[in-house]
Amino acid sequence: MVEICFSAVATALQKNPKIGLGLSFSAMAMLYSVMLIGVYITSSHQGLSCPDWPLCPNGFGPPAEKYVFEYTHRVMVVITAGLIVATAAYSARSMKQARKTAVIAAILVSAQIVVGLLVVNTKLDPLVVAAHLSTGISLFAMSLMTFLTAYRLTRNH
Ligand code: HEM
Repeated sequence: MVEICFSAVATALQKNPKIGLGLSFSAMAMLYSVMLIGVYITSSHQGLSCPDWPLCPNGFGPPAEKYVFEYTHRVMVVITAGLIVATAAYSARSMKQARKTAVIAAILVSAQIVVGLLVVNTKLDPLVVAAHLSTGISLFAMSLMTFLTAYRLTRNH
């Protein structure tokens, strides 16, 4: 019974290119917001406001005012990474034209989380911060290309 339900859902997902479009758009929009907050953190010199990794000192509770942006950056990264991986999984199965860029985005987001760890642990080493920015830009490029492919597929459907 469960198997029948799963295969019905899988078939329904496969037949609907709007799912790929929705997933890739959500991932791209979240990524854009994460980058916006990241640049704000840098330019307002709040990069060391949350000294721990992966969580800030408040753990899962409400953040203190001094690291609210750092906390938001990290929480949004978790959701963004989930959306990017879901887009890659969906593309691998049902949106082959976007598979390459979506899988590269999934690899880059994992790398970016490790670079984020290094940004914090090296106390903002300039080279590491530069790597964080350039990986973020490459990730956004892959995410945008995935979305544009999904958009083209929806238009041609
Ligand atoms: C999808 C993953 C991520 C993206 C796209 C992203 C993107 C960015 C961007 C664009 C900046 C601004 C860099 C600059 O202006 O030079 C930034 C800053 C920052 N990010 Fe991330 N980030 C991600 C994940 C993380 C993670 C997981 C952490 C750590 C837990 C982290 C910690 C930081 C810190 C501390 C800064 C401020 C650096 C500074 O003050 O110079 N980021 N991020």
